[in-house]
Amino acid sequence: MAEKNGKIKTYIKGLDENLQGGIPEGHLVLVCGSAGTMKSSVAFNIIYNEVLEGKTGIYLTLEQSHASLLKQMENMEFDLSKVNVQVLEEISKIDEVAKKVKSSKGTLVISDLGAIRKKLADTKFGPSGDWLNAMKNIIKKISTSSKCDLFVLDSLSALYVLSSFDKPRTKIFHIFEFLRDLGLTSFLVSEMPIDQSKYSEYEVEDFLADGIIYLQLTKRYRKVTREISVVKMRATECNNDVFTLEYKNKKFQATFGGRTPLVE
Ligand SMILES: Nc1ncnc2c1ncn2[C@@H]1O[C@H](COP(=O)(O)OP(=O)(O)OP(=O)(O)O)[C@@H](O)[C@H]1O
Ligand SMILES: [Mg+2]
Repeated sequence: MAEKNGKIKTYIKGLDENLQGGIPEGHLVLVCGSAGTMKSSVAFNIIYNEVLEGKTGIYLTLEQSHASLLKQMENMEFDLSKVNVQVLEEISKIDEVAKKVKSSKGTLVISDLGAIRKKLADTKFGPSGDWLNAMKNIIKKISTSSKCDLFVLDSLSALYVLSSFDKPRTKIFHIFEFLRDLGLTSFLVSEMPIDQSKYSEYEVEDFLADGIIYLQLTKRYRKVTREISVVKMRATECNNDVFTLEYKNKKFQATFGGRTPLVE
């Protein structure tokens, strides 16, 4: 495991400074927001920059295809040629991908469960198969063959649709513990309803997570501002103010924490 008490930066300028440098390693963080609030981009930005530093991460996309995800990231000018990207779109290729992860320093594994779902539509998995187990097996396989540091699940909400969650409290507890036991710093994307009434589907996730990052689009007259706040971050003295979130010159920036830009 990486050095103790290490921090994983959010790579959002202005936010890390308000988080004692970043997110404690091994934490499990919910990235919450309604549609189009840049949940995937914020999570991708973290994992991409950590992989640039030589770490290994798995980005598991359940509904958005890897092609669509990478297109969005290329449009945001992430230089994908700088990192070793391995796409897993067939379960049978898992050993091959795991080997490639092992042989290189710093790899971003994009696991496209949507593609796997399409290919496995007629097999034992079926449309209502046990995707939770499929997800666990992918993570286990890669992280046991080489050291894996980060994990992004995009999204937790999609996983709920794909697997049966009859006893959500128990199941969610076990998923979170599974990720913690592997020593992963995890980011779970949580799609919020449009009325933004809750951060997660069953709300128990809020209590079980170590951190919550909340993204929102705020309307003032006809102008919409992107905003970010850290609702909680265990073991961290953090500023919970609402910051304006901007993506400029290939970088995220959080500004105006606790202040109204209009009166600056
Ligand atoms: N420079 C940029 N390049 C591309 N998209 C950008 C840029 N700046 C802002 N965006 C916006 O980011 C949004 C998409 O971001 P992202 O896919 O990360 O959001 P999301 O919250 O994951 O969305 P979804 O709810 O669809 O999963 C788009 O609405 C897009 O307009
Ligand atoms: Mg998304």
